[in-house]
Amino acid sequence: MGRVAQKGRKELKDAPIGIFDSGIGGLTVVRRIGEVLPNESIVYIGDTARIPYGSKSPQTVKNFSIEIGSYLAEIGVKAVVIACNTASSYGLSTLSAILPVPVLGVVGPGARVAATASKNGKIGVIGTRGTICSEAYQSAILANRPELRVYAAEAPLLVPFVEEGHLDDEFVKLALKLYLDPILEKGIDTLVLGCTHYPLLQPAIEKYVGDKVNVIDSASATALALKELLKKTELMKDSGTVLKKRFYCTDNPQGFRREGSRFLGKEIEIVELLPLEELQRAGSKR
Ligand code: DGL
Repeated sequence: MGRVAQKGRKELKDAPIGIFDSGIGGLTVVRRIGEVLPNESIVYIGDTARIPYGSKSPQTVKNFSIEIGSYLAEIGVKAVVIACNTASSYGLSTLSAILPVPVLGVVGPGARVAATASKNGKIGVIGTRGTICSEAYQSAILANRPELRVYAAEAPLLVPFVEEGHLDDEFVKLALKLYLDPILEKGIDTLVLGCTHYPLLQPAIEKYVGDKVNVIDSASATALALKELLKKTELMKDSGTVLKKRFYCTDNPQGFRREGSRFLGKEIEIVELLPLEELQRAGSKR
């Protein structure tokens, strides 16, 4: 490899990873990525102006994903992680086809870990209406092991509960009863948390389902899959280079900063406003 090519590779390795979500939820994925890949710089975009994605149509979610993915590629990220389960369900194949950098969603890694973990062959999945209707988890789990049975449930009340700080109270218990009882009755031994917000409910969910059910969090699975991807594509940052994390959102940066720390597990110092027009402009070039 010549000098120029070597410099190119070093610059590429030092480039940040672009991560996006409909809002603050994807910070649960950033948190896990930070644990597994502590040297990597990150640019995070939370589309707070257009949240929720979970109740929007497939085409709308796909369009938003194209806009944000295109913007991240334009600013020079070395890889894109779609931290949002709904956007992964509807946007991953298009973004993988149009972006010049590797793209990773949260559905594939979560599905793979669940398919490997299940002993009795019965897996439950909970997520937003969009994620569950897309059948992305169901197909990804069956692609790993076609003999498995997948029982999926939309759990639309859980996102607002988490956003309002209800993590383990009577409201949560009632919602878990409503959503989980029908799939627990099928005898599942594995449950996939197919939404950015659910890791905050993990202690309540684990208590509810009991120790016979293995609870899989897609955020952790994605962080490990990203590490593999960076190794395989020789894009892993060398240690010793300066680490940066930048957080952008499309509306209400103060709210993002205030609420986001619960999802990230630490204070966020600066959140910058990214006007929606910037994303729309990037998307319109595709
Ligand atoms: N981030 C979304 C997901 O993981 C949940 C919030 C929303 O509906 O936008 O599907």
